[in-house]
Amino acid sequence: MTLSQFLSLLNKRTDEYGGSLENSLRIVMEIYEVTRKALGKGFVLGVRINGDDLVMGGNTLLHSTEISMRLAAAGIDYLSISCGGQWEDALPPKLGEPPSAYRGYSGLRCWPRAWDPDGANVYLAEGICKAICKVGYSIPVIAAGKIPMPGLAEEILQEGKADLIGLGRPLLCDPDWVKKAMEGREKEIVRCIYCNHCAEVNDLFQTTTCIQWPQGYINAPLPFFPKQKRSEKKLSKVSGNPTC
Ligand SMILES: Cc1cc2nc3c(=O)[nH]c(=O)nc-3n(C[C@H](O)[C@H](O)[C@H](O)COP(=O)(O)O)c2cc1C
Ligand code: SF4
Repeated sequence: MTLSQFLSLLNKRTDEYGGSLENSLRIVMEIYEVTRKALGKGFVLGVRINGDDLVMGGNTLLHSTEISMRLAAAGIDYLSISCGGQWEDALPPKLGEPPSAYRGYSGLRCWPRAWDPDGANVYLAEGICKAICKVGYSIPVIAAGKIPMPGLAEEILQEGKADLIGLGRPLLCDPDWVKKAMEGREKEIVRCIYCNHCAEVNDLFQTTTCIQWPQGYINAPLPFFPKQKRSEKKLSKVSGNPTC
């Protein structure tokens, strides 16, 4: 079982690690406590949870808000909010491929694609951020999920929807994303096109690469500029995806 499965309402264990919220949280709390003890108070230690499991019978924002309050009360330094990625709605693997929790609707929602709206999962961080604030907790809440450019990141922060921005694929695509944003060089950011090639190869335990990097690269070229990215023609040939 993954830690997310322990926390889920779908955790049907009958021992002290399932049933009540306290029991479901037990393993996470135990890990938190030994990790905190090993690291000491001066080390930043946060937890990532699902804002919504996005499967029938799983956690919703209502439950993740309650979990967040318990974690805040335990003294974690930040909360990072993801969603989905459940086994319950995952399609079976293709012959010869490993199983993956990311092959169903809940899995797809974990990493919004090109056709999803920007900031697709921000509402979850926003819900948790506002709920824990209301009862007096002030730990930072991180929003993640298709936040492609600094303008949207800034908007989310300014509107109080989250305290910090989490970037996965945009940073894989262009590791200088933050540096370029800070220096006002947004136009030089090589944009993630949310094709999910990286996630798919990662799921297959293959080298995680980005379709935007020049052919054959296993890391982003540094520095990396938009003119170096693979052409649209080559991209659609590689990915077979007309949206690329
Ligand atoms: C290659 C890859 C590996 C990832 N591995 C994890 C992981 O181990 N744990 C996790 O919580 N999220 C993982 N994620 C999800 C990201 O942390 C992030 O939540 C998701 O990609 C959506 O954000 P983005 O649109 O900025 O990429 C991974 C994402 C990618 C692309
Ligand atoms: S392969 Fe690159 S462009 Fe495609 S989703 Fe991953 S990071 Fe973004």
